[in-house]
Amino acid sequence: MTTRQLPASGEDKAADGHARLDNLTLARKEGWRSFVTTPTRPQPEPLTSTNLRQLSTAALADYNKQRRIWHANLGPIKTPQLAELHEDLWDIVDSNAQDGDKAKGAIAIDAFPGLGKTTAVLAFAKKFHRREVADEGEYTAAGHERWPVCRVGLTGNTGMKDFNRAMLGFFAHPGTASGTTADFARRALDCMVSCEVRLLIVDDLHFLKWRTKNGVEVSNHFKYIANEFPVTMLFIGVGLEARGLFAEGDSYADAVLAQTGRRTTRLDVQPFAVDTETGRRQWRQLLLALEQRLVLAAKSPGMLSDDLSDYLFSRSTGHIGSLMTLINRGCQRAVRTKTERLSQDLLNEVKTDAAAEAARRELETAIDARRITTVPARATPGRAG
Ligand SMILES: Nc1ncnc2c1ncn2[C@@H]1O[C@H](COP(=O)(O)OP(=O)(O)OP(=O)(O)O)[C@@H](O)[C@H]1O
Ligand SMILES: [Mg+2]
Repeated sequence: MTTRQLPASGEDKAADGHARLDNLTLARKEGWRSFVTTPTRPQPEPLTSTNLRQLSTAALADYNKQRRIWHANLGPIKTPQLAELHEDLWDIVDSNAQDGDKAKGAIAIDAFPGLGKTTAVLAFAKKFHRREVADEGEYTAAGHERWPVCRVGLTGNTGMKDFNRAMLGFFAHPGTASGTTADFARRALDCMVSCEVRLLIVDDLHFLKWRTKNGVEVSNHFKYIANEFPVTMLFIGVGLEARGLFAEGDSYADAVLAQTGRRTTRLDVQPFAVDTETGRRQWRQLLLALEQRLVLAAKSPGMLSDDLSDYLFSRSTGHIGSLMTLINRGCQRAVRTKTERLSQDLLNEVKTDAAAEAARRELETAIDARRITTVPARATPGRAG
C-alpha cells in the first residue's frame, strides 16, 4: 500500500502563534498583538475518502489534529450582522477624530448572548489596529509603541478600581499593586496618551452593577474617561438598557446615567430570522459559506444548505453561537466516527446549549407543519454549484 505523505504544514510557526492565543492573553497588549498580527489559519488540504485510507497512521493522526483545531475555529464569517456592525463602527470611530477638547461619543453593543458581539468587535478592532499602525507607524512621534486599541474584559463584580487596574494590566504597567482608584486612573491615562490609544473596548459590561451608588460612580468614571482620554469607548454587554445604561429619569442617579446615555450610540445584533425572503437568503448564504469551510472527506455540495437548512435553523433558532457549536461538535464527531459528513442522524447525537434546545421543539413543530420554511423561494444553488 502506498503511503500518502501530507504536505508539511509549513505554517508551523503561525500554528504555534494560534495555539498560544486564548481569551486571557487578550487582556495583555502582547497577546493583543499576536491576535492582530498572527496570519489567518490555513485551511487543511481537502482529502477524499480514498486519500484518507492511504495515509499512514501518523499522517492521519496529524491530519485529524489539524482538522480538530480548524473546525473549532471556523470564522469569523462575514455575516450581514457582522458587516453592518462594522460599517456603523467605522462611521462612529472615524467621526470621533475631533480635537482633544471634545468628549467623544461612546458606543454600546447591547444584545443577547451568543449572537457574535465579541467576535464582531474583535474582528473590527483587528482591522482598526492594522489600519492605524499602517497609517501612523508602529511608534508614536515621541517614540512609544503605538497601541490603537485597549481591550478590557470585565468579570463578576468589577468595581472602578478593578476596572482601572485592568486597563493598566493591559499595558503591563508595573503600578498595579498599590495606589488609589484615582492613581490607577491617572496611570492608565498616561499609558493611553503615550501609546495613542484610540479605541477602548470594555467587554461584558453587564458585570457592573449600574443602578446603585456604584453605578453612578462608574458612570461618572466613564464620563471622566470620555472627557479626559482621547479614546472612543466601546461597551459590549447583555441587557445594558435594562440595567440603566441609557436611563433617563428624575433622580440624581438617573440624571447622571442619562448623561452617559446621551453620548452613547446603541448598536444591536439580531439573530437570523427566516420570516422574510431576505432573511431566508441570508440564512442560506451563511450555510453555503460554512459548507465551504468544512474539511470532511465525504462532504457534498448542499450538505448543509439543501439537506440541513430547516434542521439547523430549528436547532440553533438562528443564533450563530448555537449554530457554530453544533457544527463544530458535529465535525469532531464526523471525523472521530469516520462518517466524514454531517447528517441529521449524526447531529441528533450532538448536544448543544440549553437555551437553543428549549426553543427548538416549538420551531420543529412549526417547520414540520410547513408553517415555517428556511429555504428561499429561488435558492442560489448549493448542490448544483
Ligand atoms: N461571524 C461569525 N462567524 C463564525 N462564528 C461566529 C461568528 N460570530 C459568532 N461566532 C461564534 O459564535 C460564538 C458566540 O460568539 P460571541 O462570543 O462573539 O458572542 P457574544 O454575543 O459575545 O456572546 P456573550 O454575550 O455570551 O459574550 C463563538 O463561539 C463564535 O465563534
Ligand atoms: Mg461576548
